[in-house]
Amino acid sequence: MIIPVETKNTALVLQSDIKNNLGLIYFGEKLTKPAEYSAISGMYKQTEDYTGVANAAYTSSGSRNLFEPAITVRHADGNNALDLRYVRHTVEKLDNNVSLVSVFLKDPVYALDVSLFYKVYYNEDVVEQWSSIKNNEKGNVVLKKFASANLYFKGEAFWLNQYHGDWAKEMRPEESKLTHGIKTLDTKLGTRANLFQPSVFMISMDKRATEDEGTVLYGSLEWSGNFRTDLELDNQDNLRIIAGINNYASDYTLKPKEIFTTPAFLYTLSTTGKGLASRNLHNWARNYKLLDGKGDRLTLLNNWEATYFDFNENKLFELIKDTKKLGVDLFLLDDGWFGNKYPRNGDGAGLGDWQENKEKLPNGISSLVKEADNNGVKFGIWIEPEMVNPKSELYEKHPDWIVKQPKREEYYFRNQLELDLTNPKVQDFVFDVVDGLFTKNPNLSYIKWDCNAVIYNAYSATLKDQSHFYIEYVRGLYNVLKRIRVKYPTVPMMLCSGGGGRVDYAALQYFTEYWPSDNTDPMERIFIQWEYSYFYPAIASANHVTDWGKQPIKFRTDVAMMGKLGFDIVVSELADADLRFCQDAIKIYNTLKPVIFHGDQYRLSDPKTNAVASMSYIDANKSSGVIFNYLVNNRYGENSKFPIRMRGLDPSKSYRLTELNLYPATKSSIDSSKTYTGDFLMKIGFNPDVRASRTSVVVKIEAI
Ligand code: GLA
Repeated sequence: MIIPVETKNTALVLQSDIKNNLGLIYFGEKLTKPAEYSAISGMYKQTEDYTGVANAAYTSSGSRNLFEPAITVRHADGNNALDLRYVRHTVEKLDNNVSLVSVFLKDPVYALDVSLFYKVYYNEDVVEQWSSIKNNEKGNVVLKKFASANLYFKGEAFWLNQYHGDWAKEMRPEESKLTHGIKTLDTKLGTRANLFQPSVFMISMDKRATEDEGTVLYGSLEWSGNFRTDLELDNQDNLRIIAGINNYASDYTLKPKEIFTTPAFLYTLSTTGKGLASRNLHNWARNYKLLDGKGDRLTLLNNWEATYFDFNENKLFELIKDTKKLGVDLFLLDDGWFGNKYPRNGDGAGLGDWQENKEKLPNGISSLVKEADNNGVKFGIWIEPEMVNPKSELYEKHPDWIVKQPKREEYYFRNQLELDLTNPKVQDFVFDVVDGLFTKNPNLSYIKWDCNAVIYNAYSATLKDQSHFYIEYVRGLYNVLKRIRVKYPTVPMMLCSGGGGRVDYAALQYFTEYWPSDNTDPMERIFIQWEYSYFYPAIASANHVTDWGKQPIKFRTDVAMMGKLGFDIVVSELADADLRFCQDAIKIYNTLKPVIFHGDQYRLSDPKTNAVASMSYIDANKSSGVIFNYLVNNRYGENSKFPIRMRGLDPSKSYRLTELNLYPATKSSIDSSKTYTGDFLMKIGFNPDVRASRTSVVVKIEAI
């Protein structure tokens, strides 16, 4: 029996043999004749598979399998062996583009059932895969490993592109050839889970993929907690990929009749390079996942770096006026507005006490919202509602709501601890923090939701089974976010975690945007945004112009315009020309937003290997777009020596290129009276004339 899971360009093919072992026999470019899938295996003359299940669609452990399992259990009687066999499958068309393939597996000896789900997004070449495990045994079954997905590839060689980082150093890529054995990507941080390693990765097959060539798989787990992906190159030189929630310290006890459903593992396969894979993910995200993915976003002025914790009502009134003067949509009040017994005047106190600080804000948040209204701008606010400082009234009142070991010394990350979201009472508290703000201030228009700590000393005072803690924490978080979204379905919320410590596609269904990094040095940002752009669309990337870095305001603004633009500067201290530049840039940005948010993104010149970084956004009709270009190497004489080849244009159309965002009193060296065909621009390219005296060049491209 052959089960092809097909998208527009790819096919993942499952096959059950005479003994009902279910294997993955192919994942690659779709064949014209589905009948030929069964001939694929015969074309490989590799060494023997002694187990007969090396290509299992969901590798079980304790029976014949000799490799990394997707699932490991301890049955009610203490036996550890599992052997899952194919029973039946269904294919359901959910709409014109989306279908669900469900495959039912069963152990012939033990009453344990597993269903594999493949949710297929046809046009986007995207699959979300997850599993559900049902205990039909008479007693408790312990799940010791419970992956979402298990893939299997044949290829001459495999290259892993993975990411690592830390605070202000998010998304540093590393590419390496996979060697035999297991490479694991994982996190055990609990919250802020991606701080050292996000779950996104790429695998190039046969040869290293480039933007336009090669077969490449992108994968990522939709889960905002501990994850684990094992990449195992086996004795036959085939690659097994097993991804799911990290089973670290997380044995999960399933009661009789109970079902455990894993989060989805998301993947897309491109046989024409990384560019298409990323555009597929962007389309999928905007169409199906990211909250308000097809909508608009608000530009803003944030006060974090302008004031830090040092502000009062008058100062904020001035900043609200500056918001209007600058020409952005919203003023975002950051950290420091709350706490009375323990005022939040630094990061050592106040978290948990979400009442306006009476000294700084004697008239409360509502007077700020009113002042924003009076100035014709919107108002947004920062919260970090999962956290508590030991110096807080909340800590004094509810010691049992806090994640810590009862008998051990507390250990802090940024002087704070997590609230125990496995506890429904704590979920209510966190929901009420948000709900209370909206109830008191119906005009509140934006939330920045932060999460600055990892979990140490994982323990809940109320949870029965402590080994469920990490999983129940994330479920608790999603419960709260779901409740917020039922009541406030569209209000924009930024997902922040001291930077990009938490961005993933499970979280992004509740958020309109994420904060990629606290590092806003524009030179760094070019690299950070570049790497995020492989996985997340620009509409979701909140980029602020700040005083980080040595670049002029034009460079900083140009870089921030590549996603959702915001500012975090002291507007009143800007030189006249700088202010005028920003005001004009915001007006220009408002005209470019549709193509930046909803267009197709092309990475044209990679800052990791070139002196010039270049990225374009082109609309669906190939009739207009924008190209951002930067000098990223300041050695003597570095410049855009070669034309930059465009992508995604219509070869038969003629285009005009005009430089935008010129600093007051400067002239462009680009002659916008000339036109070029798409054919020319894609084969020869265009030179934006980037050099030491023109380090940042934004070019508008229009068909005529
Ligand atoms: C985190 C965020 C910053 C800012 C501070 C406030 O570090 O990433 O943007 O909001 O918290 O304390």
